[in-house]
Amino acid sequence: MMQADLFANERRDVELGPGAAILSGFALDVADALMTHVERMSALSPFRHMETRGGKVMSVAMFNCGAWGWVSDRSGYRYEAIDPETGTPWPELPPLFLDLAKRAADILGFDGAVPDACLVNRYVAGSRLSLHQDRNERDREAPIISVSLGLTATFLWGGHQRSDRPARHRLFHGDVVVWGGPSRMVYHGVDELKGADHPVTGAMRYNLTFRKAR
Ligand code: SIN
Ligand code: FE2
Repeated sequence: MMQADLFANERRDVELGPGAAILSGFALDVADALMTHVERMSALSPFRHMETRGGKVMSVAMFNCGAWGWVSDRSGYRYEAIDPETGTPWPELPPLFLDLAKRAADILGFDGAVPDACLVNRYVAGSRLSLHQDRNERDREAPIISVSLGLTATFLWGGHQRSDRPARHRLFHGDVVVWGGPSRMVYHGVDELKGADHPVTGAMRYNLTFRKAR
C-alpha cells in the first residue's frame, strides 16, 4: 500500500470515454487537508447508514457538505438543504474542496462548473455500491467529480444500460474521476472493498463526490 502511494504520480491518467477520465493522483497534494476537513465536518453532520426506498441499509456510511445534500430513505432518493439527522444545514463546502473540484473539471474542459453538493462516502471492508446512475441532480450539464482517499477500491465503469458489462479500474488514494457530457449518465459503482490498512485512513476508504444539484 505504501509503495502504491509512493509511485502514485507515475501512474497514468485513464480515459474512460468522452468527457470522462481518471486523473491519477490529482488530489494527492491536498489529501491530508481533505481528510482533516472530513473529520471536522463529520463531527457536525455524522456519518450514517441510509436506508434505500426498499428498506435496505446501505453498507456505505455517508454525510454531505454544501448547500444541498443527497439523502435516501423509505420515500426515495433526493437532495435536501437540511440534514435530517441534525435538523440543521449541512456543513459548508470548504473552499479547498471547491477549488479541487473546479481544477479537476477544468482539465476535462468543463470550465465554469460550480458544484453545490458534496456527498462524503465512507467504506469499510465489505462495503460496496452497486451499479447506478447519478440521476437526482436537476443540473446534468455539470460533470460529476469524485475524489478517492485511503484504501484502494475497484471502480466499476459501465455503459448507458444497467446490463452493460462494467470495466474495472483501481482507484488509489488521491485519484480523481471526472465524468460529464456524453458520459454523465454512465452506470458506475464500487466493488466490495477488501480489508487492508492504509497509512492515512486506516481500515477505511473515503470518497468525495461533487455534483451540481440545482
Ligand atoms: C458514487 O458513485 O457516488 C461514489 C463512487 C466512489 O465511491 O468512488
Ligand atoms: Fe454515483
